[in-house]
Amino acid sequence: MNGKKVLLTGGTGGLGAGVTPLVVSRGADLTVTYRHQEEVDRLKQQMAADDFSKIQFANLDLLNESAVQQLIEDIGRIDVLIHLVGGFAMGATAEYSYENWKKDFDLNLHTTFLACKYSLAKMLKQGYGRIVTVGSRGAIEPGAKLAAYCASKAAVVALTKSIAAETQGTNITANSVLPSVIDTPANREAMGTEQAQQWVKPESLAEVICFLASDAAKDLRGAAVPVYGDV
Ligand SMILES: NC(=O)c1ccc[n+]([C@@H]2O[C@H](COP(=O)([O-])OP(=O)(O)OC[C@H]3O[C@@H](n4cnc5c(N)ncnc54)[C@H](OP(=O)(O)O)[C@@H]3O)[C@@H](O)[C@H]2O)c1
Repeated sequence: MNGKKVLLTGGTGGLGAGVTPLVVSRGADLTVTYRHQEEVDRLKQQMAADDFSKIQFANLDLLNESAVQQLIEDIGRIDVLIHLVGGFAMGATAEYSYENWKKDFDLNLHTTFLACKYSLAKMLKQGYGRIVTVGSRGAIEPGAKLAAYCASKAAVVALTKSIAAETQGTNITANSVLPSVIDTPANREAMGTEQAQQWVKPESLAEVICFLASDAAKDLRGAAVPVYGDV
């Protein structure tokens, strides 16, 4: 990834705390999107000052199409898109509101679509690109009371595979990772720490993501890579 222009969405979140430092350490020219300054400040505390100072931050709502288009225009070249934005929700289907259902698809699928759409248009012109999206184990093993989450993540995987099919014969690839449970502060707060040793560390998942985003993974396309740790 040395010298590559990387757009990383959600790089200030729980998984971002593992991915962002690794991408910087690989020598990328990195832009990280964020929504809340507190998350940027938190990341700053977790990183070496030198590495942190190499990151360009962009305040962006990934559901604002014209803002997404503008940012990608302004960045210039994009070699790599790593789209981490997404989130979890639970609820029995018979009781789930249509409003929340749509919110889950906004957060997981529609942000992915917009980030991919505008990055891919650039990559097609450049003749080079790496796209990495984040599904979930639930995308291929849907569970009870998780319909909106699992369906929206399954759609992220399908979108990614479609892009991989569309870009066959180009130097562009698209792949997704399917994490089980990531060892983030939010998960520790929600579920306690008893099982935390079995969860996937953000730094470990970051290694898989960075491989998919690298030159070396040029022949890997349309994969949905399970990254389950010991869960
Ligand atoms: N944590 C897990 O156990 C787990 C398991 C499987 C899959 N995943 C997936 O892994 C990815 C990262 O998860 P995480 O635990 O790091 O989640 P996280 O800590 O909530 O990080 C997600 C990031 O996305 C940002 N974001 C949300 N909506 C946005 C929008 N409309 N525009 C721009 N940014 C937005 C959040 O910003 P704000 O804080 O401002 O909302 C946050 O920085 C997600 O796709 C998640 O579904 C996570």
